[in-house]
Amino acid sequence: MPTTTHIPVLLKETVDALSIQPGGRYIDCTAGSGGHAEAVLEHAAPGGQLIGIDADPDAAAIARARLARFGGAALIVNDNFANLEAICLKNDFEPVNGILFDLGLSSMQLSESGHGFSFKHGAPLDMRFGPGQKTSAADIVNKYSEAELARIIFEFGEETRSRQIAHLIVRARPIRTTDELANLIERAVPGRGRIHPATKTFQALRIAVNQELEHLESALYQAVNLLGHEGRLVVISYHSLEDRIVKNFMRGEAAACICPPGLPQCVCHHQPRLRLVHKQVVAPSLAEEKANPRSRSAKMRVAERIIGNEEWQETAQRLSQLAGNETSGWKHPDKLRMIFGATLNLN
Ligand SMILES: C[S@@+](CC[C@H](N)C(=O)[O-])C[C@H]1O[C@@H](n2cnc3c(N)ncnc32)[C@H](O)[C@@H]1O
Repeated sequence: MPTTTHIPVLLKETVDALSIQPGGRYIDCTAGSGGHAEAVLEHAAPGGQLIGIDADPDAAAIARARLARFGGAALIVNDNFANLEAICLKNDFEPVNGILFDLGLSSMQLSESGHGFSFKHGAPLDMRFGPGQKTSAADIVNKYSEAELARIIFEFGEETRSRQIAHLIVRARPIRTTDELANLIERAVPGRGRIHPATKTFQALRIAVNQELEHLESALYQAVNLLGHEGRLVVISYHSLEDRIVKNFMRGEAAACICPPGLPQCVCHHQPRLRLVHKQVVAPSLAEEKANPRSRSAKMRVAERIIGNEEWQETAQRLSQLAGNETSGWKHPDKLRMIFGATLNLN
């Protein structure tokens, strides 16, 4: 069993933001050690259900054990949230009332696992969430060209000394462990402020290994498809690259018009699918930051699903086509009610 515990960040704010209803259906795309998921299930009782997803098999096992007391109301899936829609369709779990992403890594992954995510603990240079992934951090560090390494470190780490670090890496390889890489960077690149000089390079490698930004973009899009009317999308991010993606995605989906600037009139006829619940990010209180320093960089964004007239009509057509199909989840009256509210006569 892990000796470190992960303290869920912005826990009360997350529960409030999801606007949890008894009997509702929720998805935790980053189950981790199950802290947020447990609170969601407690507030959704009686009758609430949750699918928790985690790409790391160790994290999925921890969440599964923690949520065992909820019986069949909790299903933990060891998979990448890039497969969100497929996971929900397979489990006949849509539409849902709320979806949570608490991005990044858990305290256990940073402090204990052999994944090699942290420069603070000696481990093989791996950084994959699970054994199914092909490319490890060692593959990138030891096989990629200097130019490609510099690009990754600059783009995914926002490291201004990316070329210098890439040059050092190429001269020193093969590099097999987190210690070797961290020491190499520390010896040659002076630290700035409180952060370790290898911090940004490690972030960049982890993002590249796990294709984190592509998967996030794809999963956000899928999440909106799965939300029922007034369902909530809640995303907690921990660095600016993730937050920018979330911000742009939510703003784009909430915009009434996405025409390029300068057109005399709107030609896009964009249908907003989200409403921003807060105009600004929700950040932890000073008390939370003090109690849990890991929460310091957290930013939470919240949006609510809206289903406009056109989309309602399209969905109605789809439903009538599916009406004879016994395997379709859309046939269930409770699911129809979630989308159409009181306006649909289901009898
Ligand atoms: C910050 S932790 C979540 C902690 C959790 N909210 C809790 O209360 O314990 C983030 C988790 O997301 C998982 N994760 C990160 N990217 C993922 C992805 N693309 N697909 C599935 N899980 C992912 C990590 O393995 C990690 O366990």
